[in-house]
Amino acid sequence: MMTNFQVAIDGPASAGKSTIAKILATKLNFVYVDTGAMYRTITLATKKNGIAYNDEEKIKKLLSQTEIRFEPGTPVQRVFLNDTDVTDEIRSAEVTNNVSVVASFADVRSNLVNRQREIANSNSVIMDGRDIGTTVLPEADIKIFLVASVDERAQRRYKENVAKGMTTDLETLKHEIEARDYKDSHRQISPLTQAKDAILVDTTGQSIDEVVSKIANIIENKISF
Ligand code: DC
Repeated sequence: MMTNFQVAIDGPASAGKSTIAKILATKLNFVYVDTGAMYRTITLATKKNGIAYNDEEKIKKLLSQTEIRFEPGTPVQRVFLNDTDVTDEIRSAEVTNNVSVVASFADVRSNLVNRQREIANSNSVIMDGRDIGTTVLPEADIKIFLVASVDERAQRRYKENVAKGMTTDLETLKHEIEARDYKDSHRQISPLTQAKDAILVDTTGQSIDEVVSKIANIIENKISF
C-alpha cells in the first residue's frame, strides 16, 4: 500500500460526508479528519471565552491557546478542546448556527488549514470539509464532491435530531441548512466549491451502503492503479 494516500470529500452541510468518510476510513484503515469539527471547536471556544462571534481580533488571539485533538472512540471519534471532551457540545444548534461566521475569518482558516495539512503529511487520510480538494489538499489522490437535495438533507438532519431527543421543525432545519450553504459558498476565502478534478456524487435517494461502495471502488481502483 502506498504511503500517505489522500482522499478529499467536500460538499454542502448534511450531504453525508462524515458518515461516508468514517466508514471508508475504517474500511481502508486511513485516519479520518473531520475539519468541520475543528471549525466547530474554535466556535465553541469563542463562546466559552465570552467572545462575540464576529470579533475577529479576539478570535485570532484565541487560536494559539486552543488545542484541538481527536481521539478514537466508539461509536464516534471524540473531539477535545484543550482537555475537555466537546464531542457533543460542538453539535449544538448554537455552534451550528454561528460556525460559518467564525470559519470565514482569514486567520482561523490559515491556522486550521496548517493543522489539517500536518495530519495529512504523516498519515493516509480521508478528510472531509468544504475546501479540502480546492485548498487544503489540492494534490489529493481522490477528490469527491458529495451533494444531495436540500429536502433530503433537512430530512436526514431531522432524523438525527429526533434520535438525540431534540425537536426541531423540519422547515426551520431546511432554512438553517440553506443559510449555512449560502454563507459557506459565498465567503471570500476558499468558499465551498467543487474542485475541477473532483468527482460529483449525488447521494439523493441513495443508501449509505450504495454511496460507500461507489466511493470505495473509486479509491480501490486508484490504489491498485
Ligand atoms: O461539516 P460541518 O457541518 O461540521 O462544518 C461546520 C462548518 O464549518 C461549516 O458550515 C463551514 C465550516 N467549514 C469550513 O469552512 N471549512 C471546512 N473545511 C469545514 C467546515
